[in-house]
Amino acid sequence: MTTAIIGTGGLGSVIARRLASGGETLRLSSADKESARRLAAEIGRAAVVAVDNSDALQGTDAVVLSLRFAALEGVIGEIADSLTDKLVVVPSNPLATDAQGNVVRLLPKGQSSGEVVAGWLPTGAHLAMAFGTMSANLFESSSNRSPEPAVLFYVTDDNRAGKQVERLIRMACFEPVKVGGLEQSGRLEVGGDLHDLVVGPAEALSLIGGT
Ligand SMILES: NC(=O)c1ccc[n+]([C@@H]2O[C@H](COP(=O)([O-])OP(=O)(O)OC[C@H]3O[C@@H](n4cnc5c(N)ncnc54)[C@H](OP(=O)(O)O)[C@@H]3O)[C@@H](O)[C@H]2O)c1
Repeated sequence: MTTAIIGTGGLGSVIARRLASGGETLRLSSADKESARRLAAEIGRAAVVAVDNSDALQGTDAVVLSLRFAALEGVIGEIADSLTDKLVVVPSNPLATDAQGNVVRLLPKGQSSGEVVAGWLPTGAHLAMAFGTMSANLFESSSNRSPEPAVLFYVTDDNRAGKQVERLIRMACFEPVKVGGLEQSGRLEVGGDLHDLVVGPAEALSLIGGT
């Protein structure tokens, strides 16, 4: 199947490599296209560079918006017409760096980034917050762990999005575990209790309160 990846920086490039090595075909887009071109050249036949963000969605089943949180709403507005019936995967943490170089949360304490992103999406898009639960380096090194696969946590309010994101998570050689609905997205973010954890399925279920 084919997935669009919009944003081919530190995290998007790692997601793209993992999905391509699992057998997914990719359409890549970035702000000036240079990083997308370099990545496509590295991945080879499984990846093409789209003309622009809307073109990246042509013929795809899903899109990963691997963008800084501040860029998300604008890009979603640009591609909104193409998002009907698509899985939209958002790994963004709601963070930015202020003028003093400090990392700040862009949303009030307790406000869920998943619910905010859902409010930006058009009706008919299927949102899952996933793939941003580990630093890019940890994500890369934890993929395809053996003998027990590492878990990638996700949240969604949408059953169809859940099934589809689980396929992508397995494609990236992780075991998917749903934490809950979008209101739980803070648990996956930098500073959340499930961020940057490398655990197997049994430990993951006990951490989220399952059996
Ligand atoms: N890096 C990590 O370890 C990590 C881990 C977990 C979660 N995350 C989250 O993942 C998100 C991405 O982080 P990152 O570190 O990958 O950021 P990054 O290295 O700055 O990459 C951002 C990407 O977005 C692209 N972009 C910016 N504006 C765009 C636009 N209008 N249209 C299309 N593409 C656009 C940039 O294009 P150019 O390449 O052309 O500049 C770049 O490829 C963030 O929200 C972050 O919180 C990151």
